[in-house]
Amino acid sequence: MENVALITGASSGIGAEFAKIHAQKGGDLILVARRKDKLKELKTKLEENGSKVIIIAADLSKNKTADEIYKYVSSKKIKIKYLINNAGFGNLGLFYEGNLETYENMIAVNITALTKLTRLFLPDMIKLDEGKIMLVSSIASFVPGPLNAVYSATKAYVTSFGESLANEVKETGVSVTTLCPGATKTEFGKVSGFEQNDDGPMQFAPAKEVAEYGYDAMLNDKGVVVPGMFNKFITGFVSKFVPRSMTAKFARSMMDKRDDEVIK
Ligand SMILES: NC(=O)c1ccc[n+]([C@@H]2O[C@H](COP(=O)([O-])OP(=O)(O)OC[C@H]3O[C@@H](n4cnc5c(N)ncnc54)[C@H](OP(=O)(O)O)[C@@H]3O)[C@@H](O)[C@H]2O)c1
Repeated sequence: MENVALITGASSGIGAEFAKIHAQKGGDLILVARRKDKLKELKTKLEENGSKVIIIAADLSKNKTADEIYKYVSSKKIKIKYLINNAGFGNLGLFYEGNLETYENMIAVNITALTKLTRLFLPDMIKLDEGKIMLVSSIASFVPGPLNAVYSATKAYVTSFGESLANEVKETGVSVTTLCPGATKTEFGKVSGFEQNDDGPMQFAPAKEVAEYGYDAMLNDKGVVVPGMFNKFITGFVSKFVPRSMTAKFARSMMDKRDDEVIK
């Protein structure tokens, strides 16, 4: 396999779009997610265009999964040139009413697996003086997230981690890009428990557009990047110049408006 990208959360949404883009560029792929049927379907499609694709159906909320992925890739002597840590999920509602196991899994997928995979693959990249890592964060990482508290906190970790790593590797041939999307049309809403209703308070960007923006930024060794004008306004202006308490109130009102969109 050559020019290999390992993409987590490749069975749908932004991750599946990353996989299509990378295949179009002639790269090979290792795709990770739980739903084997979805991964198989995507593998068939990508192989029609000439890419070699390995699928790993695995649950990243399990602590040993990242180690197993690294062990497998190393045993096959596959060189990972691009590591795209994209898998993630959220949920909607008051923190104190939420399910603790859901929060534990969210932290495990959004933070622990992403950190472990990065720690496992980065030294090999540094040794070769070549490689690109992408962390998929969110605009939620820049502002308080009432009714979305654990998710927003996990993404604050991801953005901070990505910014720090980008600095640590800057003298090497490796780069770390942190993509911070806003609302994007994927399965994220369904998984998180709300409808992605275009008539609601938020506009949803197409997953393909967001993935193209992120992939391009990764190729160009950018640091933290935010697709879309509204999202840039939130991260560039609101998060810097509006008091956090006011931002929290605004974010809460946006989430409250989603009440009628909550999947009961
Ligand atoms: N959509 C948005 O509005 C939005 C906004 C900002 C940031 N993001 C971020 O973008 C990333 C991609 O999400 P998306 O919007 O494309 O949503 P999505 O369509 O729901 O995709 C999420 C992906 O993560 C995988 N995943 C979830 N839990 C997993 C687990 N335990 N083990 C392995 N894989 C797991 C899912 O695969 P399986 O279910 O098959 O395991 C799926 O492939 C996430 O990190 C999300 O936080 C999304």
